[in-house]
Amino acid sequence: MPYVTEQNLTDIVMDRWKNIPDSRLRKIMISMVKHIHAFVREIEPTEAEWFTAIDWLTRTGKQCTDKRQEFILASDVLGISMLVDAINHRLSTKATPTTVTGPFHVHDSPELANGANMAEDAPGVPCFVTGVVRDLDGMLVKGAILDVWQTDGEGLYEAQRDVKEPWMRAVYRSGADGSYVIRTIAPIGYTIPMDGTVGELMSRTKISHMRPAHIHFLIDSPGYHRIITHLFQRGDQYIETDVVYGVKEPLIVDFVKKPAGKAPNGEVLDKPFYVVNYDFVLQKAAKAAIAAE
Ligand SMILES: [Fe+2]
Repeated sequence: MPYVTEQNLTDIVMDRWKNIPDSRLRKIMISMVKHIHAFVREIEPTEAEWFTAIDWLTRTGKQCTDKRQEFILASDVLGISMLVDAINHRLSTKATPTTVTGPFHVHDSPELANGANMAEDAPGVPCFVTGVVRDLDGMLVKGAILDVWQTDGEGLYEAQRDVKEPWMRAVYRSGADGSYVIRTIAPIGYTIPMDGTVGELMSRTKISHMRPAHIHFLIDSPGYHRIITHLFQRGDQYIETDVVYGVKEPLIVDFVKKPAGKAPNGEVLDKPFYVVNYDFVLQKAAKAAIAAE
């Protein structure tokens, strides 16, 4: 083996990392060495810069707890989360597209009947989300799970509130005719956490750290490709500059303002409210995925 020089170092390292029995891990590690070496050769960091990078990663790790995940946030603002999402959900253009899960989903939300309110006592403007769940052939999907979570009207999720009971989240199911009715309040845009290492980095850029108003959905039904997605409010000032690159055109919807009166769940409201109409379109799962269920 030749001794290393600046020129041959990458080849020598890649050659040694070929010695991994697991073929997938071997492919990943060789590619990582190749790209990281190319990155370092391109930027030619000073030693001080390299230790600044190590320190940033160290502090990012120390900020992670079971309630906070700064590495996911870093992945989000660099567009990596959306890239992984895109690679793993290559659906028909006629199906509802997926987008990032984000850090605020909570498992085992309470199951509510169609039309029931998932935003009792929450501040904000009442909002009804209605439509059907169907498939690519137009068949209505009954009994589909719609797991919903969002901010309240002040831009805060349950994890950011000091609450004991579930806050701004619920599970609904589509009815026999595929329809669903969610009663909630309108979400508002919000900033990603700016008090950590990701915020520290973002504040040295001119990149917006805001997300446009959106409602999160996980839609699941046996035999169909499970999707995690959002509905975004058309006209939101941050729709073009979502800090996590989550906005896809088919997911932008009108929040139609209605005067006080009868709402889609039959209730009569004494103040104005929003109505959002959206049909979720599911794609049949690949056969291998069905077998694994
Ligand atoms: Fe969100």
